[in-house]
Amino acid sequence: MSPPVAVVTGANRGIGLGAARRLARQGMCVVLTARDRARGEAACASLAAEGLDVRFHGLDVRSRGDADALGEWLAAELGRLDVLVNNAGVLLDPRGSRALDVAPELVRDTMETNVLGVLGTTQALAPLLRQGGRGRVVNVSSELGQLADMGIGSPAYRMSKAALNALTRILAQELAASGVKVNAMSPGWVRTGLGGANAPRSVDEAADTIAWLATLPDDGPSGGFFKDRRPIPW
Ligand SMILES: NC(=O)c1ccc[n+]([C@@H]2O[C@H](COP(=O)([O-])OP(=O)(O)OC[C@H]3O[C@@H](n4cnc5c(N)ncnc54)[C@H](OP(=O)(O)O)[C@@H]3O)[C@@H](O)[C@H]2O)c1
Repeated sequence: MSPPVAVVTGANRGIGLGAARRLARQGMCVVLTARDRARGEAACASLAAEGLDVRFHGLDVRSRGDADALGEWLAAELGRLDVLVNNAGVLLDPRGSRALDVAPELVRDTMETNVLGVLGTTQALAPLLRQGGRGRVVNVSSELGQLADMGIGSPAYRMSKAALNALTRILAQELAASGVKVNAMSPGWVRTGLGGANAPRSVDEAADTIAWLATLPDDGPSGGFFKDRRPIPW
């Protein structure tokens, strides 16, 4: 039996790299993807040096061509896909930005990565996820996208994560019949390039819930939003 295969997007650093390490430590063959080949291969080599089963494949999530090429490579090289972690994301809003002032181009750029990137990647890889009959999709979202507690600041990012949450619920229903579970999670405020050095949480803490959702049993939840393995409001 070949090991389960997981794809992690934006995995050359930060939460994506932590999730790739965690899933590989749990015995998966992890396809670490990144838009920058050199940085992705370096990250992959660092995990391989730990004795982990990792491969690199390029993926700019804004490119549907990249996502289709990844799907073809997975089918030819590994023949299966069990887990997709949609982690790649950007926060482009300047500090203190407001919806009334935000540049539409910045909103478009943010949506392109955080929403359309997830949509295109999932569309391209869904046939392989369906094939196994128990695929798991984990969308790395944010509490800044929660409608229940919507505040101000970072409007483009907030809108993108709210849209990602909506997409999570839609995909969960569309894929339910094929046994694929789709959930969103919030990592909390994490020390990464995006979160900054003062964030209270580690990459490992975020990776724990990603790995939990990536390995849910058949009677586990789908279409939910989680933090620290517990449901949180939309
Ligand atoms: N850190 C936090 O406090 C926090 C809180 C809530 C949610 N999140 C979410 O967690 C996820 C990971 O963020 P992070 O904190 O680990 O940030 P990070 O350290 O800035 O890493 C972001 C990753 O996304 C990649 N990426 C960006 N655009 C991409 C594209 N078009 N195609 C492929 N990869 C792309 C980056 O690649 P490059 O190296 O090429 O730029 C990088 O690998 C994001 O979805 C973020 O919104 C983070």
